Amino acid sequence: MIGRTAEGDASWDVGWSPHLCVIGDTGSGKSSVIRAVLASWPGSVVLLDPKRLEFGNWPEGGRVLTSAGDPHRIAEVLRQCADEVDSRMEDLSRIVATHWTDPDAKPLGLRPVLIVIDEAMVALTRPAKGETEKETRVRVDSARQSLLECLVLGRACGVHVVVGLQRPDVAFLGGTARDQLRGRIGLGILSPDATRMLFDADLSEQMDGRPGFGLAVNLTPTMPVPVPFRSAWISPADVRAMYLPESESA
Ligand SMILES: Nc1ncnc2c1ncn2[C@@H]1O[C@H](COP(=O)(O)OP(=O)(O)OP(=O)(O)O)[C@@H](O)[C@H]1O
Ligand SMILES: [Mg+2]
Repeated sequence: MIGRTAEGDASWDVGWSPHLCVIGDTGSGKSSVIRAVLASWPGSVVLLDPKRLEFGNWPEGGRVLTSAGDPHRIAEVLRQCADEVDSRMEDLSRIVATHWTDPDAKPLGLRPVLIVIDEAMVALTRPAKGETEKETRVRVDSARQSLLECLVLGRACGVHVVVGLQRPDVAFLGGTARDQLRGRIGLGILSPDATRMLFDADLSEQMDGRPGFGLAVNLTPTMPVPVPFRSAWISPADVRAMYLPESESA
């Protein structure tokens, strides 16, 4: 359960929308939605956050595969995620399975992984210290390409992505990436253009404005049009505690 709509509890069905984007200005409640997603996620996580404070400084171990905030590290981790996707697809293809949950795929022992990228535009495009413009370009292109690979191929092999973004930037959400991020939550106040980009219609008048409140679409098959949404609340400490390695939570 990640929030509520008029119909009741809202959850994110990754079988229906493998990837999710959460869009809103600063303070609109993006990171809080991501915490609610993490609180209901059963598998492992990769946490990327250029601000570091929210998700980029978690202790690794247990279900936390990686937590990173440094621009080089973010690009490197995304490359590793794309390699993991590639290797999972290779394994599935070898046993002629089309999805990681197929009975035939059970011996592979694949577990679902959620890649969280908060402040995704910054995470992917921020120049790193001491880097030339060309080096930045190469790193940014590589990070984008890796993410795209995870978005396009992840569903079949149990790799899912949630991104937090301040606005539905075409540079980030253009073309293929946008199509893959089918589950969408818009929070706070959004411009007519932003709601058109997210929801294919000017729904700016319907934005509530309060943090944690907004519109959501396609979280489940029964949500084909945007509906009013309020995110569930879980504190940063509580969600971290759910991911502590067993030795530390004992
Ligand atoms: N579901 C909610 N219920 C009540 N308050 C909420 C909820 N979601 C967010 N808030 C309030 O809004 C504040 C900002 O939320 P959050 O940090 O998640 O926003 P953000 O969009 O990630 O902002 P930033 O750009 O600073 O990272 C929270 O500290 C909290 O006070
Ligand atoms: Mg935030």
